[in-house]
Amino acid sequence: MRIAVVGAGSGYMPGVIRGLLHRADDLAGTELAFHDPDAAALDVMTRLARGMFAARDAAFTVTSHTALKPALDGASYVFTTFRPGGMAARHLDESIPLRHGVVGQETAGPGGFLMACRSIPVLLEIASLAGPDAWIVNYTNPTNVVTDAVARHTGARVVGLCDQHVGDTEMWAGLLGLPAGRLEADWIGLNHATWAERLRLDGAELDLPALLDDLDVPGGGATPWRDPSRMADLAKALGFLPNSYAKYYFFHDEVVRELREKGTTRAEDIQAMLPAYYEQVRAEAVKADPDPSRERGGGEHGEFAVDVICALHRDEGRRMIVNTPNRGAIAGLPDDAIVEVPALVTRSGPIPLVMGALPGPVRGLTRAIHEYERLASDAAVTGSRRVALQALMAHPFVRSKPVAERILDEGLAAHRAHLPQFA
Ligand code: G6P
Ligand code: MN
Repeated sequence: MRIAVVGAGSGYMPGVIRGLLHRADDLAGTELAFHDPDAAALDVMTRLARGMFAARDAAFTVTSHTALKPALDGASYVFTTFRPGGMAARHLDESIPLRHGVVGQETAGPGGFLMACRSIPVLLEIASLAGPDAWIVNYTNPTNVVTDAVARHTGARVVGLCDQHVGDTEMWAGLLGLPAGRLEADWIGLNHATWAERLRLDGAELDLPALLDDLDVPGGGATPWRDPSRMADLAKALGFLPNSYAKYYFFHDEVVRELREKGTTRAEDIQAMLPAYYEQVRAEAVKADPDPSRERGGGEHGEFAVDVICALHRDEGRRMIVNTPNRGAIAGLPDDAIVEVPALVTRSGPIPLVMGALPGPVRGLTRAIHEYERLASDAAVTGSRRVALQALMAHPFVRSKPVAERILDEGLAAHRAHLPQFA
């Protein structure tokens, strides 16, 4: 069996390699075809993977490719985890909207729109090169917009991933005073816009409204990924659990102020740490038992992706939260909307579980985000400026034609090299 990894020079690879190791027995004999146009980053991660596999006697072989086609040839799974333009492009995604008073974010809002426009042409190329039976297992953000473009505009098989729910569920366990490993939440909605009304401890349903009534809102503790104070405050108001990205919708103007005061973008902060990070990976790669930092893509990022591949490959029917066409799972959203829901992952793909309607207070918002995402995906595929403008005007962060227009003009110009469809 062959698994292609597109974006294998990514700083998230140490976690992916650990993920592969944790299922090494189930995947024994697999060839990993690493691809990245950045030959130096690809080389570091290839050495690391070989070193880590050798140290654990894992039966994997690793080949590395700077061209796409030889990496994809014969692959049963194409795992995508790349960012066209790298952190420099992410900096633009984060700073252009902010200049116009809109949250600059790499997945939500206009920043995510620009990222979708860069990612989707590459995904469409991958879909055209991959074999007809190959599964594209996509982490490239914005994962559901990318998944939507592949699902509606190509014949390829695709599933969209995000591990946000793993860390969010852990955060809620901490806030609610429950043991993390035993807590399960039914997160439903759209990627980075999910909500959980149902919570189980060891399989037994919990009384969430009562738990939220008793919850004291903690102060501080915010990280780049999570803001427990605001999340607790928000959950008490809503009566159910919000995804951490809900902060950008319900505290939009406060976040704009904070981002401006902070002065650097998240991309700039990451860029500043990456040289030392890659240096550490390079040094670990030659050790007898490499132990690289998981500072990038920590948590269960890699394990989750490899578990999804194993569930598909071994027809496990395992219950996992993935991005897949709705097909009735969430009432009130179209059947072909890419939703994030619990699904049984089988050889023929994820089977989304029937979850009912979204909670009333966020039903309209989620529907609006869906309409934006559909427009964003169509614009990224077709290169229509008009549809792109409609997408930005429809986004709940924007709702202004002049602002949408300015962000679009600046964004398309700044990212021109990665946007052949708009040429
Ligand atoms: C979470 C999100 C990912 C996102 C990442 C950004 O894990 O679910 O979709 O890419 O955060 O993390 P970073 O460290 O790059 O800011
Ligand atoms: Mn995510």
